[in-house]
Amino acid sequence: MPIKIAIFVSGRGSNLNAIIQAVEDGRLNASIEVVVSNDPDAPALDLASRHDIKTFALSHKTLKRREHEDKILEHLRQYQIDYVVLAGYMRVLSPHFLKAFHDDRGYFKVINIHPSLLPAFPGTHAYRDAFEYGVKVSGVTVHLVDEKVDHGPILAQEPFPRFPDDTLESFSARGLSVEHALYPAVLEQIARSGIKLTAKETARP
Ligand code: GRF
Repeated sequence: MPIKIAIFVSGRGSNLNAIIQAVEDGRLNASIEVVVSNDPDAPALDLASRHDIKTFALSHKTLKRREHEDKILEHLRQYQIDYVVLAGYMRVLSPHFLKAFHDDRGYFKVINIHPSLLPAFPGTHAYRDAFEYGVKVSGVTVHLVDEKVDHGPILAQEPFPRFPDDTLESFSARGLSVEHALYPAVLEQIARSGIKLTAKETARP
């Protein structure tokens, strides 16, 4: 049985595209039930529609956080979603939302990709922050979401180098291509065997 996922986006959707490609190529045993966005103009929504994937767009601008999240939860109820997959979703999900997806160990079945080796460089501009700091190596993290931002048990990390002649653009492009390979691969691992955390990894950061 494929895992049923809802993918949350706010922007261009290059990670969404990588996941769609993996599903379509048979590399990822998942069913993308719906793509959700807080930005009705997000290009990622058009991408989803071009692949006949259902979308649900609801701007957060005129709603309180709780109302916005409740409307999304209400919409998701029809799908019996196994995992929420964040792919450039620019809203912080509150504990109220996360609790709707907890497993029996107390983890939230909400997965995020972050463009740095967490806990280094959390936040919205991780590629820029790492580049400006002068790192020689950076990387990408896929993790379970918890109540803190860019935080939670790490599922996978993949490093990539910064070369001396890199610009922020070439550095970010290298990282993004790592994201596009890593995210579908981690999701496929979850589709095969669920969320496996070793004893050490279950130590909450
Ligand atoms: C990615 O760099 C992702 O790691 C971060 O937001 C960006 C989204 O890009 N969370 P895209 O919309 O998937 O192209």
